[in-house]
Amino acid sequence: MPHHQLIVVGGGLAGLRAAVEAKAAGLDVAILSQVHPGRSHSGAAQGGINAALGNNPDGHDDTPEKHAFDTVKGSDYLADQAAAIQMTRDAPGVIFEMDHWGCPFSRYDDGRIAQRPFGGAGFPRTCYGADKTGHYLLHTLVQQAYQRQITMYVEVFVTGLVVDEGRCRGVVAYDMIHGGLEAFTADAVVMATGGAGRIYGNSTNAIISTGGGAAMAYLAGVPLKDMEFVQFHPTGLLTTNILMTEGCRGEGGYLLNDEGERFMARYAPKAMELAPRDITSRSITTEINEGRGIGGADYVHLDLRHLGAERILERLPGIRDLAIHFEGVDPIEEPIPIRPVQHYTMGGIDCDVDGRTRLPGLYAAGECACVSVHGANRLGGNSLLETIVFGRRAGMAVVSDLEGGAPSGDAASAGRAAVAALESRVRDLVARGADGADPYAIRAEMVATTRDYFGVFREDAVMRTGLEILRRLKDRCSLVGLRNGGGVFNLDLIRTLELEGMVDLALCVAEGALARTESRGSHARTDFPARDDEKWLVHTLAYHTPEGPRLEYGPVALGTFEPQERKY
Ligand code: FUM
Repeated sequence: MPHHQLIVVGGGLAGLRAAVEAKAAGLDVAILSQVHPGRSHSGAAQGGINAALGNNPDGHDDTPEKHAFDTVKGSDYLADQAAAIQMTRDAPGVIFEMDHWGCPFSRYDDGRIAQRPFGGAGFPRTCYGADKTGHYLLHTLVQQAYQRQITMYVEVFVTGLVVDEGRCRGVVAYDMIHGGLEAFTADAVVMATGGAGRIYGNSTNAIISTGGGAAMAYLAGVPLKDMEFVQFHPTGLLTTNILMTEGCRGEGGYLLNDEGERFMARYAPKAMELAPRDITSRSITTEINEGRGIGGADYVHLDLRHLGAERILERLPGIRDLAIHFEGVDPIEEPIPIRPVQHYTMGGIDCDVDGRTRLPGLYAAGECACVSVHGANRLGGNSLLETIVFGRRAGMAVVSDLEGGAPSGDAASAGRAAVAALESRVRDLVARGADGADPYAIRAEMVATTRDYFGVFREDAVMRTGLEILRRLKDRCSLVGLRNGGGVFNLDLIRTLELEGMVDLALCVAEGALARTESRGSHARTDFPARDDEKWLVHTLAYHTPEGPRLEYGPVALGTFEPQERKY
């Protein structure tokens, strides 16, 4: 049974950055990832990464404190302010580090890193590499990981934690290449599996963004924080939900309704198209609901034509390619049909600024974690930042926590017991076979339910109906049968094993949203349209129980920025 001092689950930016940090300090580190790290969903991030560098001619007065203020205001004051301040202070240093490691950022003529405006930001502070920023950052860190000879177990699907005597001691996994179920024990585990976008039927997220890390931590008793806050990106490509970066609007793109009107003037007269995502997504949805979608249909236009071919080809070449190949529209010639789609999971595994969770030995970083720096609404460009800042900090925390030596206890026997439990679960799935409940039918109904009942606008009666559907789906999960019992590259096994965790997460979203009788950030209730700081300036904590999530509430760290009404 493989043993490493640190196991990192997930090979995206957060996981890679944690691994690099711990390895540089001398730990024996392994990354377990269901895809090659270079194919992680971090690579899909387009528009950029925020840091108050002040390089843009309009950004000279920018500071980390102003970045923190924008982040907290953008979060509708639900972010923990000390955490947001920590992230924005760490930001310039991690950008320069990535630059020194070779990340090909776009630059000004004088060689400094270029910065573009993004939504909800007081200054243009989003560093970028054309419209492929995530891809460039990811490959820079993959190279660092290989250079440091970090062990990589690739195409290994982690499906549970090994927990013994109140400590996380490793993980159990399905090895796709060799076909077996196996335990990997460790002195510490960093969970960095990304978001849970695929619990929604209209997501920009990759097929691997199923929330596995959050679901495993939840099942092991770690609370999930603020899961009701789901980000809808304003500009998803109409027929495929593919992201059309906020950088399109950062470069000056317009949002137009059927009347050719820049309708954002009605909703955010100062910021216009660069209002934060929650406000922009609600504005587009309102235009559509009131019949001003294009031709009365459920989309509006993202218009880049006035930017000109040269700028589009230099700054947004990937967007042009995607629009041509997936929508048959060349943005140089025609406006792009878009609508809001699920994009980001603000909630996640409850942890501190160093990634420590309430389960000793388990750390979390990146989108699967909730530190919380995004609160009720994340600003564009803060996600890539979060992965690197908090991945690094989690790596540092593991190094410091293991300084006294390995934790006592018999990790190997706990690992064997966890594998036996997983084998028995798989045997049951195989035994039910095609006679069992169909996992794909359950998944299809779940993603339609989240999309249709817990979308941009929410209200009590609709959510209650959705919650009932999700509860019924959860009951059916225990009856699921595995259609394909094959050993290697059994994607049917993966889709089946991950299903119940996805339904658990959907239930956390649903229960949290129904309980929160206010509107804050991305959680917009038509029946409770106002923010209610007196009652609801609190974090939601969802604990696993066999009957569904049990909700508790905890304080938000305030103290620097007084909550105000958000105006843009
Ligand atoms: O719009 C984008 O390029 C996405 C950025 C982000 O989610 O931070």
